[in-house]
Amino acid sequence: MTPRLTLESATPGATRHIGERIGRLLRAGDVVLLSGELGAGKTVLAQGIGRGLGVRDPIKSSSFVIMNEYAGRLRLYHADLYRLEDPAQVAELALDELAADGVLAVEWPERAPAELAAEHLAVRLDYGTARSRTVTLAASGARYEALVRALSRSRRPRRDDHPHPA
Ligand SMILES: Nc1ncnc2c1ncn2[C@@H]1O[C@H](COP(=O)(O)OP(=O)(O)OP(=O)(O)O)[C@@H](O)[C@H]1O
Ligand SMILES: [Mg+2]
Repeated sequence: MTPRLTLESATPGATRHIGERIGRLLRAGDVVLLSGELGAGKTVLAQGIGRGLGVRDPIKSSSFVIMNEYAGRLRLYHADLYRLEDPAQVAELALDELAADGVLAVEWPERAPAELAAEHLAVRLDYGTARSRTVTLAASGARYEALVRALSRSRRPRRDDHPHPA
């Protein structure tokens, strides 16, 4: 089975809800990379992740701060690399190490691909018509394959997931 899951979102709230479902399953050290065009909904999804992690403070996209930190069940480190001038800046920040005690969510990871963890959950948002978005989750690494499988299961609970002995 491919460790990939495609979800449709019709509203910002639905995208936030997808993020929340992801956030509830995250553990310390997890890395989530958020890709998609300007305004696709990366920050909206990160807000959902925050909600799933029990973050109470509002999560805002920070134009000039590379990373913001939020307290929750786990700390959320929310980075936006859009204005990054040099990938070496990310290496200097050592985002992965910094975020080892919490969850690292990165918008515009393609600005510094070599500096980010090879194992991660990749979330891609694509525009559909009007407010619709396609949200594609892809896992790199066993931990994230398990995460995507858990999300697939929670999406479509099936009676035969827990077969009763005859
Ligand atoms: N289905 C949807 N999911 C998410 N956002 C949506 C949706 N429909 C409309 N929107 C709107 O699209 C915008 C998404 O903004 P957001 O800041 O999350 O984008 P972004 O991908 O983080 O952009 P940037 O690259 O500038 O950081 C918001 O204004 C939101 O209300
Ligand atoms: Mg954003």
